[in-house]
Amino acid sequence: MKNIRTQVGIIGAGPAGLTLAHWLKQHGIASVILENRSREYVSSRVRAGLLEQNTVDIYKNLGLAERLLKEGQEHHGVYLNFDGKRIRIPFGELTEGRNITIYGQQEIVKDLTDAWYALGGELYFEAEATKIEGFEGISPSIHFMYQGEEGRLECDFVAACDGFHGIGRKTLPKDSFHEFSTTYPFSWLGILANVAPSTDELIYAYHENGFALHSLRSDKVSRLYIQVDNDDHIDNWSDERIWEELSIRLGTEGWTLNAGPIFEKSITPMRSFFTDNMQFGRLFLAGDAAHIVPPTGGKGLNLAVADVKHLVDGFVGYYHNNSMKMLDSYSEIALKRIWRAQDFSNFMTTLFHKQDVHGSFTYHLQKAKFDYIGISKAYATTIAENYVGLPFDKF
Ligand code: FAD
Ligand code: DHB
Repeated sequence: MKNIRTQVGIIGAGPAGLTLAHWLKQHGIASVILENRSREYVSSRVRAGLLEQNTVDIYKNLGLAERLLKEGQEHHGVYLNFDGKRIRIPFGELTEGRNITIYGQQEIVKDLTDAWYALGGELYFEAEATKIEGFEGISPSIHFMYQGEEGRLECDFVAACDGFHGIGRKTLPKDSFHEFSTTYPFSWLGILANVAPSTDELIYAYHENGFALHSLRSDKVSRLYIQVDNDDHIDNWSDERIWEELSIRLGTEGWTLNAGPIFEKSITPMRSFFTDNMQFGRLFLAGDAAHIVPPTGGKGLNLAVADVKHLVDGFVGYYHNNSMKMLDSYSEIALKRIWRAQDFSNFMTTLFHKQDVHGSFTYHLQKAKFDYIGISKAYATTIAENYVGLPFDKF
């Protein structure tokens, strides 16, 4: 049996867990991370790509943004298409110069993992947390399985950064929170392709065949998504069919989509989920462990990093000022931004996805919104400031 002792025991080496570990270390607070998957699996899991200004600033301040700043692409606007008509939302003039950066989540995970080991940090891959105990008192511990042996991580606090399927949320006492969830009647088929992006900025598109999104990863790699039915299967989508459908859905006059070899494709269901309490005693949830937003608008990873900011404030209050005040109000502070992101993600999802037959009442409401965004600086500003992320000093 392997016994370890630290100040903050972290479950999960996704963006939330890794960011928390680094940030705590900068404040002289020790932590150990347990991750049930292998290093290879975690660093090649293809997911997010859109980083808010806040998120980039955090990694810059932590000294973890060297590769992000070199290889990430800063975008100063976004294109919105509806029925083949295109408008552009310019961030700079609507948000006092705030922007987004495109950089793959797995690259962040790689950068943070490498930097953590370089600092001599403790992170155990293929170590599955099985049980969290004692969090109602002052000496919590996390039981885990590692290399076929049972171990125990003793700590002052547990940070469950273990994603939607982790054990953190399931461990919170049932009567300490309410759950809210919505499942959308569509999913995303996402691809990565070895082809130069056909656009300089992201394109979100409504089309009568369904939603499509053109994102990118580099000058040579494109990332694209299309709306498919929940019961659809990846085998129904040959590369030819994907490119043809993307070309139809993203099409505008005088624009063509470059097609190329697809090297990754997968289908992800879309849901909104969250709990109205993210803590109990000395157990705290952060990131997807506590909330899921539909991916339209790219808020999930950014919310995870925002949770971590508030959690760090709380731990610094405890270890450096001997005060539980910030930790006690962690959920309350974090939930304000989470609700905002739920609303924005739902707005972007319902605006651009096909929800009913083309020409229905719902369709006309979607179109009315789009037409209004095109002529109203106020409406465009609302979208721009939520998209690039609201500054922490204001929200
Ligand atoms: P995770 O990344 O899920 O990490 C949790 C970790 O905990 C995992 O590594 C897991 O293996 C580990 N774990 C689980 N259980 C245990 C256990 N018992 N013991 C030990 N370890 C455990 N977000 C954005 O901000 N921008 C985007 O552009 C964007 N696009 C997306 C596109 C898609 C297709 C998808 C699916 C998601 C997207 N997201 C986006 C969301 C984003 O990927 C997630 O919100 C983000 O991964 C949350 O990070 P996390 O650290 O909270 O959780
Ligand atoms: C990406 C994902 C999103 O959900 C989004 O809204 C924008 C970009 C991406 O993976 O690049």
